[in-house]
Amino acid sequence: MSTVVISGTQWGDEGKGKIVDYLAGQADIVVRFQGGSNAGHTVTVNGEEYKLRLMPSGILCKDTACVIANGVVFDPQILLEEIDGLKKRGIHTENIRLSNRAHVVMPWHKLFDELKENSLGDKKIGTTRRGIGPCYIDKADRIGIRVCDLIDKEEFAIRLKEILSRKNLILEKVYNHAPLNYEEILNEYEGYAEKIRPYVCDTISFLNDAIDSGKKILFEGAQATMLDIDYGTYPYVTSSHPISGGVGVGAGVAPKKIDKVFGVVKAYCTRVGEGPFPTEQLNEIGDKLREAGHEFGTVTGRPRRTGWLDACVVKYAGQLSGTDYMAVTRLDILDTFDEIKMCVAYKLDGKILNEIPASLKVLAKVEPVYETFSGWKTDISKCRNYSDLPENAKKYLERMAEVTGIKLGIVSVGPNREQTIILAKDIF
Ligand code: GDP
Ligand code: IMO
Ligand code: MG
Repeated sequence: MSTVVISGTQWGDEGKGKIVDYLAGQADIVVRFQGGSNAGHTVTVNGEEYKLRLMPSGILCKDTACVIANGVVFDPQILLEEIDGLKKRGIHTENIRLSNRAHVVMPWHKLFDELKENSLGDKKIGTTRRGIGPCYIDKADRIGIRVCDLIDKEEFAIRLKEILSRKNLILEKVYNHAPLNYEEILNEYEGYAEKIRPYVCDTISFLNDAIDSGKKILFEGAQATMLDIDYGTYPYVTSSHPISGGVGVGAGVAPKKIDKVFGVVKAYCTRVGEGPFPTEQLNEIGDKLREAGHEFGTVTGRPRRTGWLDACVVKYAGQLSGTDYMAVTRLDILDTFDEIKMCVAYKLDGKILNEIPASLKVLAKVEPVYETFSGWKTDISKCRNYSDLPENAKKYLERMAEVTGIKLGIVSVGPNREQTIILAKDIF
């Protein structure tokens, strides 16, 4: 067996896309198992940037198959746009498999996401407004439309009529909004159905057969642990399970078939959207992190909130996902800092906490306990071996491994493939 999960350990945008693309060169298949087009994974190859949303980050490796599994909420418009964009840039897109069980993001999902966020005022979640929450709601409410329904012309027309009449009732009565038009949606989605049909298959048997025949598979998490609907800072979370456990239900691959888990850790911390962020720096340090790191959202363009690395959060992610190795990214962004801080514990009322508080009220009161590190004040973007890194950078990384109890597996010092230092000897 050779299955590796790549999962975000913080609040997203850790550089999962870069790590997945790097490892995809050695993999046969890359699988997205949760989330949807709320993800924005930027991959840089030969200085060219590719922004991927639904498309697995293996797409830039010609021989690697890309699977969108059943746990993903699938927006056909976005995937088709991505395919077109990639084709125009000469990227091979034949090797895509789409689960017949994935739920389809419909126009009302995006509209409800928007209307609900607008109605919440300062209580809003700060979602990406891609219809992710509303689509997962309908899945749980058993009124979703799956890919297998979408490509069945008769079934789709019936389900659309039935569901749309219920949605229009809510639109009109609750939001005082004009109803959506049945014919327009039917035509639009019938068009998508024909275009996606060639990619649709049973990804459960595809993946399990591949595992049984010894193929190398990467599972690409989107979002991250602190946005997980059960384990994140609820309700300021997404609606899926980005932790490694999400692979089981999101791809139909049993937990005992997972060999290894990599947790992607940004060398500092960012968050987009609302919700708690204990190490946030609402000061010139935060501004410097945002500027040095060009921290603006890929999907929405929003400025990301910035702060010091929170090792408590990374340790928690490690417990939840059974993380074997850390892939530390964006260490180079800290190159110009005189001093770097790391939160190594939380204190509440003078006492060290042993867990991440569930209550947001309590979490808002925790005091991060920081350790301070001297900066390395050197350009590390050309380092290719661990031994090339300055001593101060190694001290920072080694303390991170010590506090979190997770081994260092990869260190990334720039967005390009070659800017990657590998420490783990047994990735696949
Ligand atoms: P993801 O959502 O976890 O895939 O992360 P994003 O793509 O949203 O954000 C990470 C950004 O950092 C992207 O623009 C990457 O190209 C970039 N990146 C990844 N690793 C590194 C690194 O080690 N150094 C630098 N400078 N940029 C990196
Ligand atoms: P990647 O995969 C960062 C955040 C949103 C919002 C919350 C809920 O690029 O790391 P949603 O649209 O999912 O209902 O929004 O989750 N969020 C992300 N933040 N990176 C992401 O993806 C995110 N996907 C969702 O900002 O706070
Ligand atoms: Mg991102």
